[in-house]
Amino acid sequence: MPKFSSRFSAFPIYPLAHIPARKKALLAAGVDVIDLGAGDADLPPPPKAVAALQAAAEVPAMQRYGFGLGHVPYREAISAWMHTRFGQRVDPLTEIVPLLGSKEGLAHVAFAYLGAGDVAIIPDPAYQAYLGGTLMSDATPYVYALRPRTNFLVELDEIPAAVMARTRVLYLNYPNNPTAAIAPREYLERVVQTCRERDILLVYDNAYSEMGFDGYVPPSIFEIEGARDVAIEFHSLSKTYNMTGWRCGWAVAKPEIAGALTKVKSFTDTGQYMGIQAAGVAAIESWAEFVPQNLAVFAARRDAAVAAFRANGFACEAPKATMYLWIPLPDGMSSAAFCDRLREEQGVIAMPGSGFGAGGEGFFRISFIQEGPRIAEAARRAGVVLAAMQQASETIGA
Ligand SMILES: Cc1ncc(COP(=O)(O)O)c(C=O)c1O
Repeated sequence: MPKFSSRFSAFPIYPLAHIPARKKALLAAGVDVIDLGAGDADLPPPPKAVAALQAAAEVPAMQRYGFGLGHVPYREAISAWMHTRFGQRVDPLTEIVPLLGSKEGLAHVAFAYLGAGDVAIIPDPAYQAYLGGTLMSDATPYVYALRPRTNFLVELDEIPAAVMARTRVLYLNYPNNPTAAIAPREYLERVVQTCRERDILLVYDNAYSEMGFDGYVPPSIFEIEGARDVAIEFHSLSKTYNMTGWRCGWAVAKPEIAGALTKVKSFTDTGQYMGIQAAGVAAIESWAEFVPQNLAVFAARRDAAVAAFRANGFACEAPKATMYLWIPLPDGMSSAAFCDRLREEQGVIAMPGSGFGAGGEGFFRISFIQEGPRIAEAARRAGVVLAAMQQASETIGA
C-alpha cells in the first residue's frame, strides 16, 4: 500500500464528510429528516443566469478552454459591480482572478505566499479551505479561537510576538461563517495597518458580503485605506445568487497579488467553463433586482429561527449577517454529542461547532436552508435533545 505523505496525514476529518451518508441512511429508514447542515440554499438562482447558461451551451466558442483569462465579459461585469457596490475601481484584466468557486482560490493563494517555516493565522472555527491551503503549502497554521470574549474577532495583539514574526498570511472572514459575526470598520483598519507594518498577506473572504440584515451593509476590505497594498479579497456567486453547485467566484487584488494566484492556478486548472462565466455575468447584472428579494427570504427565516430556538431553551442572538445561527450550548455539553443525538434520534442535521475547529466547541450551527416552519420544527426537536441531555447530566451530577 503506497504511504501517505506527512502533509496529507496532518489533515483532520473534513466537517461535513460523513453527513451525506448518514442522511441517506436516515431517509432510507423513513425518518423525516430536516437538513440544516451545509450553507447550501434550497432557493433558485436568478432566472437570467439559467437562461444565459442555456444560451451559452449552443455557442461553440464557449466549449473551448477558458484558461486563466476566461470569458472577458465576466471580468468586466465583476469590475463594474465592484465599483457600483463598493466604489472600488478594479482593472478587469490584471486585478481580477476568475475562480472555480472561491474555495479553490482561498486554498491556492497560500501556495504563492507560504512555505515550510512560515505561519498562517487562521480563525478557529473557520471555513476549512484556509487550513487546507496552509497545510498543503507545508506551512504552520496558528489557530486563534473565535469566542464571544472578542466578539468573534481575531485580535492580533494577543498573538505571541514570535508567531507574528513568522506570519506571512492572515485569513479573515467577515461576515463570518460559522459564527455569523461581523467586523466593525475600526477593527478592519487596525488589521490592515498591522498587515502593512509586517508585510502580511491579508486573505479576506467576503463570501457573505451580500447577506447583511437590518440595514447592515458589509464592506469590502478595499474600502479600508491602504488595504490594496496587502489584501486579496474573495467573492462568490454561491450564497449571493443561490449558485453553490455552479462553482463560480473571483478574487480581487492589485496586479502583483492577483498575478501570483493566477500563476498558481495555471498549474492546477484551466479555467471554469465559459458558459458558467456567461451565466455569472447575468447573475451579477441581476444583483439590484435579485438580491433584495432573496435576502428578504433569508431575513424571514432568520427571524423564525431565532424565535423558535429561543422558545425551545437556546439563548441565541439574532445575527446581523450570513445564513447561519451560531447557537451556544450549556457549559460542558459536547457539540458533537449534541448534534449526533439530534441527527440520530430526531432526524435534524446541524453542524457541531467542534467540526469547524476546537475553538467552535460549545456551539452548533444551523443554516437557513429550509422554510421557517421546518426550521421551527427542527428547533422543537433540538429542544427535546437539549432537555434530555441536561436531565442526564443532572442525574449523573446528583
Ligand atoms: C466562509 C466561506 N468562504 C467561502 C465559501 C466557499 O464558497 P464557494 O462555493 O464559492 O467555493 C464558503 C462556503 O460555504 C464559506 O462559508
